[in-house]
Formats: sequence, structure tokens, C-alpha cells
Amino acid sequence: MTAPLVDPFQRAIRYLRVSVTDRCDFRCVYCMAENMTFLPKTELLTLEELDRLCTNFVRLGVEKLRITGGEPLVRKGIMTFFEGMGRHLESGALKELTLTTNGSQLARFADQLYAAGVRRVNVSLDTLDEEKFARVTRWGRLPQVLDGIRAAREAGLRVKINAVALKGFNEEELFELTEWCAAHDMDLTWIEVMPMGDLGNEDRVGQYWALSDLRARLAERYTLTDTDERTGGPARYVRLEETGQRIGFITPLTHNFCESCNRVRVTCTGELFMCLGQEDRADLRAPLRNHPDTDAPLEAAIREAIDRKPKGHDFDYSRQRADGQVSRHMSHTGG
Ligand code: GTP
Ligand code: 5AD
Ligand code: SF4
Repeated sequence: MTAPLVDPFQRAIRYLRVSVTDRCDFRCVYCMAENMTFLPKTELLTLEELDRLCTNFVRLGVEKLRITGGEPLVRKGIMTFFEGMGRHLESGALKELTLTTNGSQLARFADQLYAAGVRRVNVSLDTLDEEKFARVTRWGRLPQVLDGIRAAREAGLRVKINAVALKGFNEEELFELTEWCAAHDMDLTWIEVMPMGDLGNEDRVGQYWALSDLRARLAERYTLTDTDERTGGPARYVRLEETGQRIGFITPLTHNFCESCNRVRVTCTGELFMCLGQEDRADLRAPLRNHPDTDAPLEAAIREAIDRKPKGHDFDYSRQRADGQVSRHMSHTGG
């Protein structure tokens, strides 16, 4: 039996997030700069390398696999990869195969995702206003995403909405978004904006909306009950008595959740990041490419990296400018 991955703080690593592309058909203002230079194809892990990488992580005890990007559904041939991962669901080694998507391609892929064994997707949606949606994504079309969400639900996928909390932007939509998700029987998770990547003139500190404040405003209208229910990620949930839905809070700034971290992420070039908010990384592409016939060097590189997983991130907005800033864009690590 292979020993599972446990870090120096006795946290077992059961959750792997894999970014399959740095590209995206949107440019959300908190995620990417308007003009991005994307990687050439040769830099990316091939679909075969992605399969081998994830298969090894599953062998090392990973039970939850989340595919991210950029936008994962713009990666060519990605359905072949999802279909391949289905075998780990069938064997029982993998408990959940899922993805985080902007929803733009869901109408096209929802049925195939369900057939591959995906049962749940997280869709990023910050506003229900078409003009504001186009602004925050720089050119995204809201109806396309709403069609995608509808298709996903019709295919049998559960959809959870992710909204980044942005001061002066979706503040006024707090109740509208809540009611819309409730009407469609969807949970809604709010995320505190994290200082990642150089976004030019974006005003990080001004954008930041603390979820403690959002929660207090929700409580003015609804009865909130804390629940221990978890979805495997960093969100902590309350249930709204009036609507029955769960509202999640991802609070890297106001309430650090690193103590119970169960995850690591791999970028589309095969870099393993042990923490979203730190720069330390390990190259997994070299052992994958240089040793096509044995997984031992790959396993050694993974174990060595997990042995130096840091305690947590240092994001902080308490000073004038965002501290604990990480230079790479969120799209690089896939969140
Ligand atoms: P569930 O399976 O539904 O729990 O999903 P999840 O919250 O794990 O995944 P999702 O991709 O929906 O992530 C939502 C947000 O949480 C993204 O903005 C991520 O960047 C952020 N996030 C996930 N894990 C971490 C983490 O370890 N640290 C920090 N700071 N943020 C994280
Ligand atoms: N801070 C917080 N969340 C972010 N996301 C992208 N960039 C940031 C950021 N700087 C979110 C997206 C998506 C998830 C993968 O990460 O909206 O829901
Ligand atoms: Fe694309 Fe998601 Fe980043 Fe928006 S947040 S630019 S949809 S990867």
C-alpha cells in the first residue's frame, strides 16, 4: 500500500486542482490583465501527461480532482482527459471529478461531462446584469453563460455559483443573486478578492469587500444558520432558513482557513504549487517528460514538495496597498 501524502503540519492532501490551460475566453478584471501573453503549446502538459500526473496523485491518495484554468473547457481535446479520469471514479479511488468554469462552453459540453462521471460544477458568475457582466469579464456575454448553466442542470449536473465579492460592483446585487440562485435551487459561494497578479490600474484595496460585512447584510434579511456541511474546499456555509439554500464564504482575508488545507494545485505547465498564496513550487513536468517509463522520479518530486508545504498564505489588505501580493495571475494557478 502506498503511503498517502501528508504535509509537515499533519494535513493529508486529498484534493488536487489541475489547471489545464492558461487561456480563457474572458478577462475578468481581478484575474487577468487585458493583454495577456499566453504560453506556447509545447510548454503545456499534453493530455497524456495530464492523465499520468493525475493517475499518480490518485495512487497517492487524492480523492477529489478539480479541473481549472484559465477556462478548462477551451483546452482542445479536454473531454478525452475527463473520459479517461472516469476509470478512477469507477474503481472507487477517486470520489469526485469536477471543474470550475466560467460557463461559456457548458452548453456544448454538459452532456459529455456528465457521461464522464462529473456530477457537480462550480460556475463563476459575479453579476446578473448584462452590461456589468460585460464589464467585469471585459467582453463576456451573460446570456451565453446563463444558457450554459441551464444546459448543465438539464444534463443532471449540480451547479454551484461562485461570485467574487467586489465593493461598489455586486454589493447592490446581494439579494438579487441570492434569490436567483434560490429560485434555481443552487448554492452560492462568495469569495474575497485576492491580491494576485499585476493587473495594471486595478484598485485592489478599493475593490475589496470583506465577507464579514456581506454576511451581516445578509442577516438583515434572512435567518442564517451555521452548518458543518462541507464541499471539500475552503468554503464555510450557512443555510438560509427562508430559501433553504446554502451560502458559502471563502475568506482568505478575514478568516484564514489554511489550518485545514487539504489541497495542492498543478499549473498547465506542470508546476506544483503547495499553496495558492506563496511562490514556492516544484517542477513535475521534468520527471514526467524525462522518465516516460517510470513514475518513481515523479512520486519523489511530489513527496519532496509536499514536505515543504507552507503553513498558509500572507494575503493582507490592512495597509494602503495589498500585502502578501503574489505576482502570478490567478489564471496561472487556477485558483
Ligand atoms: P468546492 O468543491 O465546491 O468546495 O470548490 P472549491 O471552493 O474548492 O473550488 P473553486 O474552484 O470553486 O474555488 C473557489 C475559490 O476558492 C477560488 O477563488 C479559489 O482560488 C479559492 N481557493 C480554493 N482553494 C484555496 C486555497 O487553498 N487558498 C486560497 N486562498 N483560496 C482558495
Ligand atoms: N480573487 C478571488 N477570486 C478570484 N477568482 C479569479 N481571480 C480571483 C481573485 N483575484 C475566482 C474566479 C473563479 C475562481 C476559480 O477564482 O471568479 O470563481
Ligand atoms: Fe477567465 Fe475565470 Fe479568470 Fe474570469 S476568473 S478571466 S473566467 S479564468
